[in-house]
Amino acid sequence: MSIIADDNDFINTRAEKNPVTKAETIEFDKNFENCIRPKSFDTYIGQSALKETLQITIEASKKREMPLDHLLFYGPPGLGKTTLAGVIAEQMGAEIKITSAPALERPRDIIGILMSLKGGEILFIDEIHRLNKVAEEILYPAMEDFVLDMTTGKAQTVKTLRIPLPKFTLIGATTKAGALSGPLRDRFGIIHRLEFYTENELAQVIKRTAGILNIEIDTKGAHAIARRSRGTPRIANRLIKRVSDYALVKHDGKITEDIANQALDILKIDGLGLDNTDRNLLKLIIDKYNGGPVGIETIATAIGEDTRTIEDVCEPYLLQAGLLQRTPRGRKVSQSAYTHLGYKNIQSQQTLF
Ligand code: ADE
Repeated sequence: MSIIADDNDFINTRAEKNPVTKAETIEFDKNFENCIRPKSFDTYIGQSALKETLQITIEASKKREMPLDHLLFYGPPGLGKTTLAGVIAEQMGAEIKITSAPALERPRDIIGILMSLKGGEILFIDEIHRLNKVAEEILYPAMEDFVLDMTTGKAQTVKTLRIPLPKFTLIGATTKAGALSGPLRDRFGIIHRLEFYTENELAQVIKRTAGILNIEIDTKGAHAIARRSRGTPRIANRLIKRVSDYALVKHDGKITEDIANQALDILKIDGLGLDNTDRNLLKLIIDKYNGGPVGIETIATAIGEDTRTIEDVCEPYLLQAGLLQRTPRGRKVSQSAYTHLGYKNIQSQQTLF
């Protein structure tokens, strides 16, 4: 697996603010993530429907001796889109080149990568919804006909050159399928959404990671961390390290339910896995806007986050947990948000404690 280029600037600023519970990758965590990343479908936990479809598709493409169709994965960050691309490559016995759309700003960036591909190789483009128009135009014939259409000369002397490319598979990943242009989306043969993980699946991920890192943890300890991991393996894997630090310093190193709960309380991660940013967001809507609806820009300014962080990182889980609702007039909190935060009910804004 080779990582060609990456765009971590935006990601770093976000992760610095919420170093433990947000699911973005920071450089520091990359090596850790790589070492615990499952390499096969057998060790990849969760996403069972998707796994089954992929295994059949891979088997078929091997039988036909044809490259895999282009694939698009979408869903919130941290659910394993890159990991899955790595598993697919391993299963196909193919090399994978990993990049992200913000790193493909100039035409020569995407041309360079396409020209470096060998037959059967996989190209993984993260945040593919952020590809610019020119890069998209270059990709279309590359995806469809495995050719690069290059123009040379100016005005009347302009010539188009078709350069053949080896047959490759593009795997695109995005947190925002809706932001992808129609023509680009249409060129993917397989489009799949990654789902949040269940508590049981996350507990398995945590136990697997603990095994790799030589951390002692019992089943109840794994479930305690899983419950507060926002359905997201990347968060679970980050929390296990913090909880393990606490267990080592304050106790004998072993993670039990009690130890996990104590450590997570100190980290201010509540029973649903919400951190300060999430709680501030919900409280703002309740306290200042009577539960909403209120526009995303207003929320972002008031809590000092950018709209993209809110939309891509905070909201998916708050929506899934039923704490927040999206309406045409803005965001609204639900009764369960009032209850979770200790407010009496939607009408009364008095807290119980
Ligand atoms: N680590 C991160 N994601 C994982 C997954 N889906 N299965 C196992 N370990 C993981």
